[in-house]
Amino acid sequence: MNAFDLNGKTILVTGASSGLGRQTAITASSYGARLVITGRNKEKLEETYAQLKGEGHVMIPADLTVQADIDMLAASVPVLNGIVHSTGISDLSPARFIAAETIEKTFSISYNAPVLLTAGLLAKKKAAKGDCSIVFISSISTRYPFVGGAMYISAKAALEAYARVLALELAPKGIRVNCVAPAFVRTPMLDDTAANYSQEAVNMIEARQILGLGDPEDVANSIVYYLSPASKWVSATSLILGGG
Ligand SMILES: NC(=O)c1ccc[n+]([C@@H]2O[C@H](COP(=O)([O-])OP(=O)(O)OC[C@H]3O[C@@H](n4cnc5c(N)ncnc54)[C@H](OP(=O)(O)O)[C@@H]3O)[C@@H](O)[C@H]2O)c1
Repeated sequence: MNAFDLNGKTILVTGASSGLGRQTAITASSYGARLVITGRNKEKLEETYAQLKGEGHVMIPADLTVQADIDMLAASVPVLNGIVHSTGISDLSPARFIAAETIEKTFSISYNAPVLLTAGLLAKKKAAKGDCSIVFISSISTRYPFVGGAMYISAKAALEAYARVLALELAPKGIRVNCVAPAFVRTPMLDDTAANYSQEAVNMIEARQILGLGDPEDVANSIVYYLSPASKWVSATSLILGGG
């Protein structure tokens, strides 16, 4: 048996309309998984859907900063063998410009959304006992911070702390919880960061990655490892994908 095989598994991917979420859904489908994909932008979700291999996939548009949408999603999905939380926004806010709205904007999507969706799914018993793996996308910046990243990095650090507690709580139910912490990867988020904030900052961080920028496949392949039986003895970890 191939330990990375995902045949027979149903996997929910958030943020599947773009970047790492989209690639994770596509790669997981190529390993045999049935996907439930979600994001706000229906056209972009349809683009992802069209690239999924196999059959039986489902698309559920939702804004995960809205509790009613979280409730609707948690109620609509079937029992899941994998949950990948890939929503997020880039944010550069120098410390002296941080206001309550800055905190709310970043945390609502990067922290509250995965935490509240997880609570909703667990309350509705949508994580298969004995056969479910939950993966959060953190960031290498929790270890190697960048100037202006206080809110983004705080949200990711909080998410990693939450994930370790979740791993403890869910281990008795045979549900595993892990994070991946990538460095800069070529996705629309990186383009946004360069365009809206600072190409110079992106160049500086890129120069620190000795293997250069990552591709979405590099992250998706690691997530498939966490979703698959190959990692059945692995929980409460955070895998640095740092480009060296
Ligand atoms: N790219 C990198 O270099 C990098 C490095 C480290 C960590 N990460 C993390 O990896 C994750 C994915 O990033 P990415 O590069 O793939 O970014 P991306 O291409 O911008 O994708 C972000 C995704 O989040 C979804 N999203 C945003 N707001 C949402 C909302 N209110 N409700 C539901 N979905 C929402 C977007 O979907 P809609 O627009 O359709 O809503 C989109 O699918 C993020 O958590 C990011 O922090 C990325």
